Amino acid sequence: MGMIKWGRRSRAALSLTTTALLTTTALAALSTGAEAADTLGSAAAGKGRYFGTAVAANYLGEAPYVSTLNTEFTSVTPENEMKWDAVERSRGTFTYGSADQIVNHALGRGMQVRGHTLVWHSQLPSWVSGLGASDLRSAMNNHITQVMQHWKGKIHSWDVVNEAFQDGNSGARRSSPFQDKLGNGFIEEAFRTARAADPAAKLCYNDYNTDGVNAKSNAVYNMVRDFKSRGVPIDCVGFQSHFNSASPVPSDYQANLQRFADLGVDVQITELDIEGSGTSQATSYSNVVRACLAVTRCTGITVWGITDKYSWRASGTPLLFDSNYAKKPAYTAVLTALGGSSDGGGGTPGAACTATYTKSAEWSDRYNGTVTVRAGSAAISTWSVTVTLTPPQKVSTTWNGTPSWDSSGNVMTMRPNGNGSLAAGASTSFGFTVMKNGSSAAPSIGACTAS
Ligand code: XIL
Repeated sequence: MGMIKWGRRSRAALSLTTTALLTTTALAALSTGAEAADTLGSAAAGKGRYFGTAVAANYLGEAPYVSTLNTEFTSVTPENEMKWDAVERSRGTFTYGSADQIVNHALGRGMQVRGHTLVWHSQLPSWVSGLGASDLRSAMNNHITQVMQHWKGKIHSWDVVNEAFQDGNSGARRSSPFQDKLGNGFIEEAFRTARAADPAAKLCYNDYNTDGVNAKSNAVYNMVRDFKSRGVPIDCVGFQSHFNSASPVPSDYQANLQRFADLGVDVQITELDIEGSGTSQATSYSNVVRACLAVTRCTGITVWGITDKYSWRASGTPLLFDSNYAKKPAYTAVLTALGGSSDGGGGTPGAACTATYTKSAEWSDRYNGTVTVRAGSAAISTWSVTVTLTPPQKVSTTWNGTPSWDSSGNVMTMRPNGNGSLAAGASTSFGFTVMKNGSSAAPSIGACTAS
């Protein structure tokens, strides 16, 4: 909670005309400084989508890693930190520290978080594979429940089950402790448990080699269709999209995304990386982005790492930034495909930041206001927004911001608490309680200024 400021009650009542003017919900925007180049996140936001990356907590101390993350991306996926062996290495003991570091970093800057992953045969502690069926069932459900409740309300999408199908032409389930001991029903059970644990999170099934129409993706498709027809909770399908010359971007990639979307689920590109270099790599990336943009329900793209230096397939240089964090041709191709501009001046002029007001609660004597501050097409390092009250209203409490006041006591200038940087398109919110003192007028929200 922020500071408390109790006001005087001596101001005269406001005229009707002014009250009417001030009750209008304010949306204010101001462009400051030279137009900056677009970023992946801002360009994707312009298309109503997030652009994310896998992040490893280990590298959050490396300045160019963090600045590239903060500037370019609007969503993060912990690369390993939420996996079973990281959060429940021994039964019933949960360790969330490394993943929390990533989640807090992201949420503090207005980025979204994908949860990865709850039930997977890999990076699974041996105590889990050693359990008998009924113990395994309760361990699985407990794991899902505990982990999801820890981050309840903070994760936009969870990979509930990862890689449960076999490669090749069989269309069969992959052998795993879950499959072998609990049978086909384990996936459905995991999704039902997940829905109960955090009803706000989108629940995804995630896999690889399902990017085009093939036996494996057909099997997943049939499962999703069955789930939708029986009301088993599933909201999204993740397509990992790890590509190389042996496994290139399929020509029916877009058609495959679309057929899943047509089942009534969102589709997300969850772990994109494409081995290669130069123009051919750039072209493949561009094709993936264009496919997503062509599918209305393709809600976002996540690349599996920021820099080639730390890629899980580093020798294939599959990412958008090279090992010195320089932008590769693939970066420019992605940005261009997203409709962005890297020329530093040719992009659509936009606001550096915007401030949007909503009344979030009201009582007879007071109401709460929330202002969402959103960065425009470029990252910003700080912001400020003015909130002007109708006397004799007074602000009694504020949160998630540092307020200062003009001499009249009616104009509050809100600045960030600590680090105010926001990635392009990213947002944060602050709030305040207004004591009405007889006037329920909405505050007037001034322009958001940024630097
Ligand atoms: C990989 C990580 O990138 C590596 O650091 C780790 O050693 C192994 O797992 N499919 C997935 C991801 O769902 O979790 C995998 O991530 C890559 C393949």
